[in-house]
Amino acid sequence: MEYRKLGSSDLKVSVIGYGAWGIGGAPFWNNEGHTKSLNSIKKAYDRGINFFDTAPVYGFGHSEELIGKALKPVRDKVILATKCGLRWDKEALGSIRKDASRNSILEEIDQSLKRLDTDVIDLYQVHWPDVETEPKETMETLLELQQKGKIRYIGVSNYSVEQIQDCLKFGKIVSLQPEFSLLARDIQKDTVPVCLENDIGILAYSPLSSGVLTGKYDKNTKFEDWRSKGIIGTFTGEGFVRNIAKVDQLKEIADKEGKTCAQTAVNWVLRQEGLTTALVGVKNQDQVEENLKAVGWEPSPEHCEKIEEIFTH
Ligand SMILES: NC(=O)c1ccc[n+]([C@@H]2O[C@H](COP(=O)([O-])OP(=O)(O)OC[C@H]3O[C@@H](n4cnc5c(N)ncnc54)[C@H](OP(=O)(O)O)[C@@H]3O)[C@@H](O)[C@H]2O)c1
Repeated sequence: MEYRKLGSSDLKVSVIGYGAWGIGGAPFWNNEGHTKSLNSIKKAYDRGINFFDTAPVYGFGHSEELIGKALKPVRDKVILATKCGLRWDKEALGSIRKDASRNSILEEIDQSLKRLDTDVIDLYQVHWPDVETEPKETMETLLELQQKGKIRYIGVSNYSVEQIQDCLKFGKIVSLQPEFSLLARDIQKDTVPVCLENDIGILAYSPLSSGVLTGKYDKNTKFEDWRSKGIIGTFTGEGFVRNIAKVDQLKEIADKEGKTCAQTAVNWVLRQEGLTTALVGVKNQDQVEENLKAVGWEPSPEHCEKIEEIFTH
């Protein structure tokens, strides 16, 4: 495993991070049951993954509980990242709302510490920007939690350049967690340079485009989980058909390199400027094993060029 320093923090995180959204299960994903989820976390740790990313909203607390339980015996050897700012009234997709106010964060932190069965969270990230709350209020609350020793570092997720700059007026953030993959490259133009300038590490989420870049789907696939909702065009309609055509071409290159499509897609993320870690979502031990092989190699220059060509048009 390779490790990189996370922004201006003193954390050294594995380049493959464990993405714990999927193991949270409903209402987003179909998971594979507690035992397989717990085994996948343990396998990740055994194979050198030291960075685990979860959130309260993943399975409405379930993902945090699984992470806390599996990693309790090795707590001092791992880096736990969770989030705040998404609340729910009942356990249904439609009830999730943004709230990064002081009151909300103060409530959320104690719930997360309890579910994760720990005294401190290494990286506490605001999950989505809450435009109803002043950045000053959110940042001052997070700084207070830092002073109290409940969190070590502050990060943000899904923030625009302007929103990052607003936060920086009030304190240090060490990481940004944006969507980033061959199929989602928006951050490259403006966001990556701002992160580099401010020593903010980038944690790429959905590096496999929530499964599409594994190459296991075809244009007729109908999803039965959150991907069927048509929230974004990646998984339905013409956008999906176009993406599958690109993935088919990636598969050919991966074959020639002796790798899988998933390994080639994650490998691409890790080679991009400013990127610290790819947070790969997994549901079982086999996926953990397979994804580790994304590290430590590079496609031929000719294949690198071809990959760029396919995914920039
Ligand atoms: N901050 C945010 O707003 C945000 C949003 C999304 C995600 N995230 C973070 O990023 C992490 C990863 O994102 P993600 O779960 O959307 O997607 P991802 O990493 O792009 O894709 C993960 C999914 O692909 C499939 N998969 C993984 N490895 C595979 C392999 N080797 N072979 C075949 N299939 C494989 C699994 O689904 P199946 O087994 O069902 O096919 C898995 O759940 C999340 O867990 C979370 O930590 C954050």
